[in-house]
Amino acid sequence: MATFEVENLSLHYLTRFGQKIHAVTDVSFTMEKGEILGIAGESGCGKSTLVNGLMGLFIPPLHLTSGDVRVAGESLMNRDPKDIRENVLSQKVSMIPQGAFNALNPTRKVKDIAFDVIHAHDHGEHTKKEIYERLEDRFDLFGMDTQRVLNSYPIELTAGERQRSVIGISTLLNPQMVIADEPTSALDVTTQKIVIRMIFDLLEKGIFNTMIFITHELPLLRHVADRIAIMYAGEFVEVGTTDQIVFDPRHPYTQALMGSVLSTNPEQKNKKPFTIEGAPPSLTQAIPGCRFAERCPKVRPECKVNIQSMRMVGDRQVRCDYAE
Ligand SMILES: Nc1ncnc2c1ncn2[C@@H]1O[C@H](COP(=O)(O)OP(=O)(O)OP(=O)(O)O)[C@@H](O)[C@H]1O
Ligand SMILES: [Mg+2]
Repeated sequence: MATFEVENLSLHYLTRFGQKIHAVTDVSFTMEKGEILGIAGESGCGKSTLVNGLMGLFIPPLHLTSGDVRVAGESLMNRDPKDIRENVLSQKVSMIPQGAFNALNPTRKVKDIAFDVIHAHDHGEHTKKEIYERLEDRFDLFGMDTQRVLNSYPIELTAGERQRSVIGISTLLNPQMVIADEPTSALDVTTQKIVIRMIFDLLEKGIFNTMIFITHELPLLRHVADRIAIMYAGEFVEVGTTDQIVFDPRHPYTQALMGSVLSTNPEQKNKKPFTIEGAPPSLTQAIPGCRFAERCPKVRPECKVNIQSMRMVGDRQVRCDYAE
């Protein structure tokens, strides 16, 4: 059985003015144990919204429209956020939310924030001392000055130390699966590398084994992911192996994304930088036809009328009738 199954998941925000924003539409995929799936797409395409939906965390204004998410066969939909926090988060699936390193409680030391995560699931089996020892052993794996980091308030740490602490805390209970939302954005390049190395070190040590890695930087995924899903205006438009997406993209949006990546390659710097003209469509109403049609260099008249569904092209999925 697949570890993680997502079936036709659609999510919307309901604003105070009664307006619906259809932020995620018809996302389906499955993941097997040990797999690393990258999800990439431009800002506002629905990546962070999807993460909350994948965890079953529906906190207004976010709502489930339809669909299902199952972890080892168990559905996460239509459950109380409290139930999700107590029985799913940190243990089965752990989330590293976007910007989390800036959201650590500033009034508490790292060791106390981490202590609470273990304590909440420990049912009084271990003493305080035993829990702190376990914390120290775990933090020793992260390549930082364990004592200093654990005894600091978040503000006393560098951004990289804070992010490594967040990842460390999120994985304390050895969740099978981690969903990391832009875990390296807002970090400088050197720190990004350190954080990526830490994540892969934890994977190698078996602290977790399955991961969704979300980023707006496609090049990062090339070295990280087994498969990549490309997201546009709330939909997955292409899902394939990393090689398929990077070297042989089929959806015109993936092709455009790869083109803009190549143009930043120094070897191609004499070429004109590639940008995708225009903006994604508004998500407040139903969109007739293909969502990328307005910006697509290969658009045909039918594209603006016919809704595009995900379909198999070889062994990958593409949401374009003309992907061949
Ligand atoms: N609380 C909210 N209420 C209403 N609309 C929202 C809310 N949060 C996000 N949205 C909208 O949902 C859509 C998807 O946003 P989301 O944050 O998921 O995108 P993203 O891909 O994570 O972007 P980024 O790369 O900038 O993190 C956007 O149109 C956004 O404006
Ligand atoms: Mg986001």
